[in-house]
Amino acid sequence: MSQPPIRICASLACADFLHLERDLVALESAGVDYLHIDVMDGCFVPNFALSPDIMRAARRATTLPLDVHLMVARPERYLETFVEAGSGILVVHQEASVHLQRTLSRIRGLGARAGVALNPATSLHTLDYVLEDIDLLLIMMVNPGFVGQKLVPSALTKIADARSMFDARGLATDIQVDGNVSFANVPHMASAGANFFVGGTSSIFQPGITISEGVRRLRAAAEKGRGASWRQ
Ligand code: DX5
Ligand code: ZN
Repeated sequence: MSQPPIRICASLACADFLHLERDLVALESAGVDYLHIDVMDGCFVPNFALSPDIMRAARRATTLPLDVHLMVARPERYLETFVEAGSGILVVHQEASVHLQRTLSRIRGLGARAGVALNPATSLHTLDYVLEDIDLLLIMMVNPGFVGQKLVPSALTKIADARSMFDARGLATDIQVDGNVSFANVPHMASAGANFFVGGTSSIFQPGITISEGVRRLRAAAEKGRGASWRQ
């Protein structure tokens, strides 16, 4: 099957909050496709991060679409809030959602694209019966909660398995990768079948380079991987 297009997502949690408008302008002119909003509730993950307020503020400075990653317990409580705040894509964790099919169907009903995230330890097979309900699968490359962590190697195999699973069902579902999406790791992720890349401190916001250079190198790394065949 033909692969879905490459999309670059910038992790807003890694921006400079003292100069947020400056970073948003730089991301937009560098040609990123999405702003990735990490929401953490201090319960599902042991940390706190972004909120609907920061989404509303960001939307005053940019027209970039928002993809929202809810690292939140029982996310079904907040779907309307995040869609009203501007989520074009709304991603919930499989591990946090008891009635996952209902939650995905409600996200679509609210007019957003529906995404599911899997922690490194969670099997793809937990999604066997909801594949048709998913617009985007987010495969975590690290255990969620903190920036600057190292890739869990088995997560690469999971990308390849997910792409085979979607191909076998005739689905061109987007596969997003998040966590340690570095210039060195991205070609492997792309050749395994990922097409949405979340750039954080490992790439777009790497100290010592500009946002524009980070975005250019991340996109080039993804395109390089596209052309390579996957092997473990
Ligand atoms: C996941 C992280 C990532 C973020 C980190 O919990 O919050 O969403 O993109 O990027 P890196 O790993 O490059 O610092
Ligand atoms: Zn994320």
